[in-house]
Amino acid sequence: MEPDIEDLSEAPCLKPCVPSYGPVTMRNMTMGETKLWCTCGLSKKQPWCDNSHKGTRFRPLKWTVGGTKKDGGSQTLYSICNCKYTMDPPYCDASHIHLPLKYLKAVKECEDAPHDTVEKICDKCGFVPGMFGSKEEKTATT
Ligand code: FES
Ligand SMILES: [Zn+2]
Repeated sequence: MEPDIEDLSEAPCLKPCVPSYGPVTMRNMTMGETKLWCTCGLSKKQPWCDNSHKGTRFRPLKWTVGGTKKDGGSQTLYSICNCKYTMDPPYCDASHIHLPLKYLKAVKECEDAPHDTVEKICDKCGFVPGMFGSKEEKTATT
């Protein structure tokens, strides 16, 4: 089944989790090809959607590979955002540089913390179960 396409009007209020604090460099993509960029951060096939967003309010972003740069030259390398906080999706805009502390602070200070009822992701802060280790692990080390 085709995944739902992101409703951009809803996107700014959702906070994804962070797969990695840096972009993914993509090569050999076909001009005109349609890609679905993961916006939730849960996909195991980053930076693309694998439908892990099912059951959340996130939807992938549909993007068509352009093949040309802003200056008109041909483009073969793409720096695709993989922290999910870019303001220019799906391209990396270096938002990841200042993200780690902001992200962890938002998770700790989230109004829904300690997130006991979150099954997949908290769309207010990007918390995902297990991101600080499981309860069993914490108990075992204390
Ligand atoms: S948006 Fe589909 S897996 Fe993240
Ligand atoms: Zn939260």
